[in-house]
Parts: sequence; C-alpha cells; structure tokens
Amino acid sequence: ALAAFGTAQAQDYPGDKVVTIVVPFAAGGPTDRVARDLAEAIRKPLGATSVVIDNAAGAGSTIGNAKVARAKPDGYTLLLTHVGMATTPVLYRKLSYDYQKDFEYLGMVNDVPMTLIGKPDLPANNFKELREWIAKSGGKVNLGNAGIGSASHLCGLLFQSELKAEMTTVPYKGTAPAIADLIGGQIDLLCDQTTNTTGQIEGKKVKAYAVTTMKRLTTPALKDLPTLDESGLKNFQVTIWHGLYAPKGTPEAVTKKINEALKVALKDPDFVKKQEGLGAVVVSDKRVEPAEHKKFVESEVARFGPVIKAAGVYAD
Ligand code: MLT
Repeated sequence: ALAAFGTAQAQDYPGDKVVTIVVPFAAGGPTDRVARDLAEAIRKPLGATSVVIDNAAGAGSTIGNAKVARAKPDGYTLLLTHVGMATTPVLYRKLSYDYQKDFEYLGMVNDVPMTLIGKPDLPANNFKELREWIAKSGGKVNLGNAGIGSASHLCGLLFQSELKAEMTTVPYKGTAPAIADLIGGQIDLLCDQTTNTTGQIEGKKVKAYAVTTMKRLTTPALKDLPTLDESGLKNFQVTIWHGLYAPKGTPEAVTKKINEALKVALKDPDFVKKQEGLGAVVVSDKRVEPAEHKKFVESEVARFGPVIKAAGVYAD
C-alpha cells in the first residue's frame, strides 16, 4: 500500500508544493546566479507553482550537500552545485554523505570558465606585472576563495602550484562576499567564475588579468582577456560546471520528470542568452543524461584528485 501511495504521489509531482533548490554557497554568487536563472527556466516545464532557492552556505559546499543528502527524497528538495561535487570527496577526510551513493544525479547544466581578477588598486596592469608583483610579495598576497573544495579554491591551488608561489588564502562562504572584499581592497586576488565576474570586469570594478580556458572567450566583455596559457602558464585550464541532484531514493517517476524539465529549461532562449552573456555554455541533451553526468563527475574526480593530493591540502 505504501508503494502504491508513493507512485500516486510521484504522478502528482510537483502539484502545488514549493520545490526548493539548495545552493551550497552564499547568495549573489556564481552558483546562486545559475540556480536562480535555472529556477525561473525550469518552473514551467516542471509544472511547478514555485521554485525557490535556499542558500545553505559554508565549508566549501559540504554543508549544503549534506543537507540535501539527508532531505526527504520526494523531489521537493534539490541540490544545484558545481565541480565541488568531485573535489570535496578528495579534500575532506570526513564527509557525512557519500557523493556516489546518497544522490540521484538529475543532470548537468553548463560549463563555466574562470577569470583571474585583482583588487582595483593592485599596481600590476597585466599578467606579466602581476607575476612579478606576486614574486616580490613573499607569500603575503591574499587570495580569496569560497572555502576548501570550491571552484575558486581549486583554481587558486592550481595557480599557486603553476606559479610556484605560496599565497595566504582567505576563505569565504561564497565568492559573492569574496568579490565584495576584493572590490573593497581587503583581499588582493581571486580566481572566480565568469558568471560572477563578467559584470564586475565590464564595470571596471576589478582588475582582470586572464581567463582559465585554452582559447580566449567570445563574450564581449571578456574577449580581450588573454588566456593563462598564452600568458606563460602553459596548458593551464580550469573550466567548471554545474549539475542538479536529488536525495537518493527519490522516485524514478519524479527524477525522470525533473530530468525532462531540465532539458527543456536548458533550451529556454532566455536562459541560454543569460548564460552566454556571462561566459557560460549550456550543455547539450546528451550530457544532461543522469548516467552520462555521473560518468563525467567520476572523470572529474580522476582529473582533479591527483592534483589536489599533490598539493597536500586536506580538510577534516
Ligand atoms: C566557488 O568558488 O566555488 C564559487 O564561487 C562558489 C559560489 O560562491 O557560488
């Protein structure tokens, strides 16, 4: 009888109940930006009355991830997160959830490049000068990030390792507060997603040094930025991505419905335009397939795991 009840519920999903997307980072940042735009785009195809965001920020996304892993598996609590899904299992010795077993993978959303930006009064005017400035600083450069396991942390790790320069890292609950402090001059540098930095670069609120892709970007506000690769950090490449997840045990009828709605949302012209304007690329149907996305996450664990281990940074 219970199972029959579950099936009936799944068929009624979502009905008029609120669907919550948990964002494991601060409001106003890049993950939040993608989640809010996606919430708007997916509401109609999902047939939901309302899709809201819950910012459960802290500990490099692991607090929000844990919250969703423990949530009722009924399709009303979802998780929108990024590459942290693949880096946190390597970085954290103790996690209260298992990224492979405690989630239903609903699908991938986008690919997002990153940018290296500095505080407005940083004396360096290009990457070459920045490199010299860092070399002279003796480890005193303050590099912000969104906590261990975040995209900004990963990019910062790779950047320090390529430069062979140690910096003082300053963790925040997201790069929204980090970029605010960068603009205010409290920190010096940040490697953050274009979904958070494009507007600030365009408005000349920060100094922009480079993009983390192998090719220059085509987004108007970012097209003149050199790549780190052409600036001397050969093969430097970090693009990150977002995915959508539900607690393990969410009925298949529900996960299927969400996956189908996600595919429609990712073709919403308004959503696509917003993403492109922020330098991000919405993925094609194939990569939205849950099995395909799960495989991709594993490949990211394999790609970044050794790099992270080599850097020797762990959180408890
Ligand atoms: C990150 O560095 O992982 C992101 O900027 C997180 C965020 O603030 O959304």
